[in-house]
Amino acid sequence: MTDELPGTDAIAEAVGERQFAAGEPLLRIDGVAKTFGTFRAVDGVSLDIKAGEFFALLGPSGCGKTTLLRMLAGFEAPDQGRILLGGKDIAQALPHERPINMMFQNYALFPHLSVRDNIAFGLKRAGMARADIATRVAEMVALVKLDGLEKRKPDQLSGGQRQRVALARALARRPQLLLLDEPLAALDKKLRESTQGELMELQRRLGMTFIIVTHDQEEAMTMASRIGVMRDGKLAQVASPRGLYEAPRSRWIAEFVGDVNLFDAESKLRDGHRLVIGTRDAGPLVVAEPREPFGEVRLSVAIRPEKVKLSRRGPVREAGHGTAINQLDGVIADICYLGGTTTYKVKLDAGGMLQASVANSARLDVDAYSLNQPVVAWFTPDDCVVLPS
Ligand SMILES: Nc1ncnc2c1ncn2[C@@H]1O[C@H](COP(=O)(O)OP(=O)(O)O)[C@@H](O)[C@H]1O
Ligand SMILES: [Mg+2]
Repeated sequence: MTDELPGTDAIAEAVGERQFAAGEPLLRIDGVAKTFGTFRAVDGVSLDIKAGEFFALLGPSGCGKTTLLRMLAGFEAPDQGRILLGGKDIAQALPHERPINMMFQNYALFPHLSVRDNIAFGLKRAGMARADIATRVAEMVALVKLDGLEKRKPDQLSGGQRQRVALARALARRPQLLLLDEPLAALDKKLRESTQGELMELQRRLGMTFIIVTHDQEEAMTMASRIGVMRDGKLAQVASPRGLYEAPRSRWIAEFVGDVNLFDAESKLRDGHRLVIGTRDAGPLVVAEPREPFGEVRLSVAIRPEKVKLSRRGPVREAGHGTAINQLDGVIADICYLGGTTTYKVKLDAGGMLQASVANSARLDVDAYSLNQPVVAWFTPDDCVVLPS
């Protein structure tokens, strides 16, 4: 049996020592599925990752993110599908034989080992020479800025420091691919933001490939060059941060990624390369023609709150837009001051509510709106996205 398993050498030969140039295909996930009992935790995921990418898997709790990572790392075996690294199927390779390392969500540090020994753990197991281990650990300690803390135990460290130990341990064997499962979830907001920047800088400097799991859409958008949104074990959309936010493929994705105004379509009427969509709550809305036709499914119109402009009297008509600007009357029904922006809820005369997010570009509130003030909310057809609902 063991004879048939490719050992470390076979894997090293296949993928290990070879460095992949940025942009080369590194990982192929091909129709991978995993069922626990009767529950399909991962349901036919296919995805290609290129060397040097910073990829984020984004999805709500329980959608299968950790299970997918565990299969990549070799802690779970897929029921279906293949995982190829550098074109070679790694199904039979044990976790420590894969040039892949995983940083666990709870860090999983060894409580009885010092920082130094936690970082050295995988290197010792791989049989690295003592002197080389010392050099590598020192390198890692400097890399994640843990100098002076080498002898401490995990319970003598702050949350942020523990996170760095886990990161250093995961990086120590210089994996081709690093999997990070909610690496920043345990940190407070300020520390999380600075650590995001550090992780990005580290990834660039090492020229490594990162797959990060997060349920936080801002974190995914900040760090990753591509994002895969997971829902119920499936990949719902793979896109750049901008693509995901500005061109979500479904109503669910639009709502999951950021705030959005959504109006159910009741009728549609073609007008050149524009559509006029009748909605109950916002009246007729002029929208740009969707790139792909949706057929006869139910549609809704999505408008991000920051695309909605408010004014006291309506917009000055710009040349070219003509009468195509959507202009909705209403009154201010709710005001939420958030510092950099203020979110206004406008109760539309048509009946619905529309959120507008307005930048507070001046310190004094001369331009602010007050409760019950009549306003005109407006946005262009291109600000609207038509989605299947
Ligand atoms: N070992 C397991 N046995 C049974 N069910 C599991 C196991 N691991 C995960 N699950 C279930 O699979 C689903 C996906 O889990 P997980 O991959 O951890 O989600 P996520 O990381 O996206 O929150 C969850 O409903 C979870 O309860
Ligand atoms: Mg998880």
